[in-house]
Amino acid sequence: MQLTDYEKAMLDGANGPAKARAMDLLLRYGQAVGAERLVETRNVAGAFNASTPSIQSIVDKGFDAVYSELNLDSDEVVEIPRVAVPTTQLITGIDNDNWRLQGVDESLVKMQRASEAFLGERGINMCATCTPYQVGNVPLMGEHCAWMESSAVIYCNSVLGARTNVEGKESTGAAALTGRIPYWGYHLPENRFGTHGVNVSIDVDDMMDWGLLGYYVGEVVQEHKPVLSGRLHHPNLIKLKHFGAAAASSGGVEMYHIPGVTPEARTLEEAFGSHRPQHELNFGEAERREAWEKLQSATDHRVDFIMLGCPHNAIEQVELVAHLLRGRKIHPDVALWVHTPRAIKEIARRAGYLETIEAAGGVIMSDTCPAISRRLPEGVRVIATDSAKQAHYLPAIAKVQGWFGSVRQCVDAALTGEWKGGL
Ligand code: F3S
Repeated sequence: MQLTDYEKAMLDGANGPAKARAMDLLLRYGQAVGAERLVETRNVAGAFNASTPSIQSIVDKGFDAVYSELNLDSDEVVEIPRVAVPTTQLITGIDNDNWRLQGVDESLVKMQRASEAFLGERGINMCATCTPYQVGNVPLMGEHCAWMESSAVIYCNSVLGARTNVEGKESTGAAALTGRIPYWGYHLPENRFGTHGVNVSIDVDDMMDWGLLGYYVGEVVQEHKPVLSGRLHHPNLIKLKHFGAAAASSGGVEMYHIPGVTPEARTLEEAFGSHRPQHELNFGEAERREAWEKLQSATDHRVDFIMLGCPHNAIEQVELVAHLLRGRKIHPDVALWVHTPRAIKEIARRAGYLETIEAAGGVIMSDTCPAISRRLPEGVRVIATDSAKQAHYLPAIAKVQGWFGSVRQCVDAALTGEWKGGL
């Protein structure tokens, strides 16, 4: 790989041992994927927090050791300096307020908080969400990023037109210290054109349908780049958040285009560049039903856990839940958790939505989600969710049955304890 003089000096230790380790890691990574050089990044979103019992023995050696081992792949413990570029902590395992509801041991909460203090002193911003773009981390079009988390990556590439591959703990750890990431994959303009045409032949408008469309398309195209056209009502952030999360779950989609909506595809021609679509597919009533049926893993209509907010909810989504619950009570055998970034939770508190949801018996959770934390209310057997991604993962992770539906269907199930949703 070609390195600049500055990068070579970092590799040789001119900027300290941590940056030397980071450069060594980036070099090995770049060589493995055939990158010819590194590219500058000013936007890193990764997983740095310590919050699991499995790493207690590393934590006992100090948080420099945690970063060295888990974020730099270094056996030698190096002192971690302030990060070189703006860096965001993505979602974590523990809700710092509602950890008791998660059944978390207090020692782990202390571990997470101590870890956050260490990271904060080094300039890592505790956004603690899978949707950093909802709370101020909005890279510009064309900006080179180093992000983890599949639903965030697909949003970054497609909706924002910024550029990232799906990075890992180690590569984001190294990028944060050096401001560099290997120049390959989605950083290269020629790799960003569409490959598959998707004709949407039924109206797709509400959030549930965008989730179903994403789930169907992801499963068919896998890691390729779909270009959607047809009867799509102009979506908003919430719908594209759900579409992308679903497509990245059933397949490995990291980028898509919607001509006239996403920034790198003003037209269909621009979406495909000089390439011809490798495949053309249709999304109609049969495909919508197929996706919906795949997402229902439950047979028991008595639900005991409703999970909303995957990816983390926007404030409008929290408001809708509050509106649907106002003056009502959740069924005593059901738990309702609404997940949103901590910053949005604060807005919900100020607007009274938090109080309304809590008065009904629900909880607003931040910092985490059940799929990441692997923690649900005790004894849960049957869940319902408005998220195709959560319906895809949670039944397998938590060995529960799962229903997928609209927000209204989920809230109705929370109030009655019974799943009555359908297409
Ligand atoms: Fe976010 Fe967890 Fe869903 S990380 S996208 S809420 S599975």
